[in-house]
Amino acid sequence: MIRLGNLLRPRRPKADDAPPIIPTGWNLDDPLLCLSNYPRDTWRIRDACEGTQIFGATGSGKTSGSGRALAHAFLRNGFGGIVLCAKNDEPELWKRYAAETGRERDIVLLSQEHFNFLHYEANRPGAGAGQTENLVALFMQVAEIANQRHGHATADLYWERAVKQLLRNAVDLLAIARGAVTLPELFEIIRTAPQDTDEAASAAWQSESICHDYIQKAAENATKNPDLQPEYAMTAKYWLEEFPRMDNRPRSSIVSLFTTLADSFLRGTLRKLFSSETTIIPDQTTLGRIIIVDLPVKEWNELGQYAAVLMKFMTQKALERRADADGRPVFIWADEAHYFSTAYDQIFQTTARASRACTVYLTQNYSNYLSALGGEAARPKVDSLLGNLQTKIFHQNSDTVTNQWAAELIGRKLQYRFSSGSSETHGIGQRSSTTTEGEQQVIDLEIQPREFTLLWKGGTDYKCLTRAVIFQGGRIWGNGKTWKHVVFNQE
Ligand SMILES: Nc1ncnc2c1ncn2[C@@H]1O[C@H](COP(=O)(O)OP(=O)(O)O)[C@@H](O)[C@H]1O
Ligand SMILES: [Mg+2]
Repeated sequence: MIRLGNLLRPRRPKADDAPPIIPTGWNLDDPLLCLSNYPRDTWRIRDACEGTQIFGATGSGKTSGSGRALAHAFLRNGFGGIVLCAKNDEPELWKRYAAETGRERDIVLLSQEHFNFLHYEANRPGAGAGQTENLVALFMQVAEIANQRHGHATADLYWERAVKQLLRNAVDLLAIARGAVTLPELFEIIRTAPQDTDEAASAAWQSESICHDYIQKAAENATKNPDLQPEYAMTAKYWLEEFPRMDNRPRSSIVSLFTTLADSFLRGTLRKLFSSETTIIPDQTTLGRIIIVDLPVKEWNELGQYAAVLMKFMTQKALERRADADGRPVFIWADEAHYFSTAYDQIFQTTARASRACTVYLTQNYSNYLSALGGEAARPKVDSLLGNLQTKIFHQNSDTVTNQWAAELIGRKLQYRFSSGSSETHGIGQRSSTTTEGEQQVIDLEIQPREFTLLWKGGTDYKCLTRAVIFQGGRIWGNGKTWKHVVFNQE
């Protein structure tokens, strides 16, 4: 098994390396994009670390307009990153971006590498304390996505608690019995657990169950090492009493959730990728690697989503732990982000600046997040996530919910409306008419929702120009407003 520390050594320059054109020091005030000639319109590393959300209809220029501009800026400035892929052409797009910015050498295609995430979790720097909880949190991310796919509400606390309890006890049992955790063994423990208390007491189950073997082994180890005794007692009680006594229906639903998920990771590509050795770890993004999770959802379906969400979460965790908090910024990039968003993103985003993590999420509309995160009940989560992605870029959109939401976000102000009206008076034998003209003061939306329907979409119709509205929480732009128009050239 490879030593993880070896993966964290910076690459030694080769003799024929060109002198570096990529910066090696990063200040939060360093500029990434100049959005006009006003110094106040500079978008800096600090701004990127506060997160970015790009909205726009399909074909509005998200990818080729603002997306490309940001991606180029990140690559030119030497950022590391991870790219989650929904569409099949995303890996090629990033290879091209890397070629255009002199970063080809830093591209890592995940499909060509191995990442034994359970081994990594147990052996990475700072591993040890809280290992069970870390593993449970990791599985829960993937479980959340699996649940989203099946259209279940993720806000179900009973369900979440039951899944966590199952995982926690399986991991603990394995850790006490074997000192290490592997996915096939977790799978077997859960698969062969007793279905009722009679079974747990029966000789037949005890002679055949792998779960029972691990309980025996754990009991021996706990006798030898009294420190393990309290944990052993708890996990044995769970497997021999609590688990068999659970209601059949909820129990079989959480068991089948876990076994279906584990099964995905125990076969084919995911097994090759995630359960053998380790040639790449998420911490390498802080050395400038750009990890492309090249299992696009359009081709790999749920497997692509699981791989991406796992890598995203582990990168988020690695960045939260990073010791070089003044080091290289790392981006987390997701086009069609609703495939990959989980409730944890919002928690991560609240401390992202300290970890120099630059999240960029692109999606068509607000409702995409709502349905991904669990429907109407998830509205607070969606609002919180979007609230923590401070820069918002709105491209052309005909989605009324998003346009209204954007207009409300930008806000209202006192506006002067020119008004003119006429009134007629009719009396006996007379008729007079007066016209009144004047200014009327109204409090109204600064941008009307319909204005978003008219933004330039790029392509030949718009001379390869896309026009978007940019807004950043708490920021006044050079034009004195909380928002401004920005034109992004696709060429
Ligand atoms: N480099 C380019 N030059 C000119 N037109 C482009 C270029 N890239 C994309 N387009 C066109 O611009 C429009 C917006 O594309 P795209 O950025 O892919 O939209 P979105 O990501 O919002 O779906 C599409 O009509 C597309 O065909
Ligand atoms: Mg796109």
